[in-house]
Amino acid sequence: MIEQTCPLSDADPWVARDAAVVWHGFTQMAAYPGNSPVTVERAEGRELIDVHGNRYFDAISSLWVTTLGHHIPELDQAVVDQLGKVAHATLLGNGSRAAIEFAEALASVVPVTDAHVLFASDGAVAVEQALKIAFQYWVNRGEAGHRQFLALDDAYHGDTVGALSLGDGGFGTTLFDPLRFPVLRSPGYASGDWAVKLVGAIEANASSLAAVVIEPLVQGASGILVAEAEDLALVGEACRSHGVLLICDEVATGFGRTGRLFASEWAGPDFRPDIVCLGKGITGGYLPLSATVASGQVFAAFDGPDLGETTFYHGHSYGGNALACAVALRHLQLIDEWDVLATVAVTATRLAERLADSVAGRPGVGEIRQRGLMVGIDLDPPPGATRWGRRVCAGAVGRGVLLRPLGDVVVIMPPLTTTVEEIDRVVDALVASIDEVASEDRR
Ligand SMILES: Cc1ncc(COP(=O)(O)O)c(C=O)c1O
Repeated sequence: MIEQTCPLSDADPWVARDAAVVWHGFTQMAAYPGNSPVTVERAEGRELIDVHGNRYFDAISSLWVTTLGHHIPELDQAVVDQLGKVAHATLLGNGSRAAIEFAEALASVVPVTDAHVLFASDGAVAVEQALKIAFQYWVNRGEAGHRQFLALDDAYHGDTVGALSLGDGGFGTTLFDPLRFPVLRSPGYASGDWAVKLVGAIEANASSLAAVVIEPLVQGASGILVAEAEDLALVGEACRSHGVLLICDEVATGFGRTGRLFASEWAGPDFRPDIVCLGKGITGGYLPLSATVASGQVFAAFDGPDLGETTFYHGHSYGGNALACAVALRHLQLIDEWDVLATVAVTATRLAERLADSVAGRPGVGEIRQRGLMVGIDLDPPPGATRWGRRVCAGAVGRGVLLRPLGDVVVIMPPLTTTVEEIDRVVDALVASIDEVASEDRR
């Protein structure tokens, strides 16, 4: 029996107020109040605290954005300091000190040669910008015909129409298919030969490609499907030798999540994407910021006369927001100062061990996939059983561990500073929830 620490939502006035005015994304609002949502009021460290004082370990990093934890004094201070200067000033045609300083720091670590940073506010927009940059790159160079994008099965790049086009669909988005532009597709990481197939598609279509787009190492939203670093390297080499632009969407994998600062780094020093998309963890989970980072070679194709046609006519009101850039800069410094990647190595190893000991092979559990602190656990419900992902995660929430599934895949994506004791807390809650749901369906 779940020890219910939060009150039932129909007795919860916050849930009623919430459902009356807030429209939650990826959420059926008619069912929302009945699904016992957590209403967060504040946070300490890696715990979220709801309006009733219940504490939940944030095992999904608030949808994969939180890196160091919540309410980090140094990050809070960075925002406060910037507030004392200016909260926002546009980057369209003018500069902002906070954006310059963060872009300099980012350019020195991102695996893009001679990096140039175009800011926005969400991951999907970083992808939209990358698509348009790649498309216009060929137009500006006067090389006709490079109009197609090559993307993978099971890809997810966000919910705007361009990003949705690159994505493989699903998630209830099929009705938008008439709006999605066609892209060439190659098998994703679920296929053992995905890289060979992708290299073949690059060779066959090089003259018509604007770019190849991948999520390096991990296809996150499709259930944490994982690739081998050597396979990424093969794809990078094929793009280079055929003169095809490579866009790496590191919105989910960036900023330490896989154990390196960027997942692209696993493929070795020669793996240099032409464009990298960043978001989510870029501000440590504090403020909305994203970035499309283009190589100097890509950037140079946009040189031309003032008000001329080679200009990139694209921008967003809050792109490069000063508060967001200030906290992003401090975050990048802290990853280094605190040696966060060393912590990730220890914690990821502990998580792998606990999953192998306590979760793998358990009734109701299928494959487990992990790269750093990104984990997907396939649930394997008996025939006729429904909503296992939801039910298992609800059980974990009732035990004070916030999890959110992708279908019947339980995703564990804890903050990078998670301790081994907290890993045990997550795994213990998960095991108890899986056993409970499995026994309910055996009755
Ligand atoms: C790889 C990838 N790209 C893009 C996005 C979209 O980011 P956002 O939700 O910030 O628009 C996501 C979100 O999960 C993602 O995983």
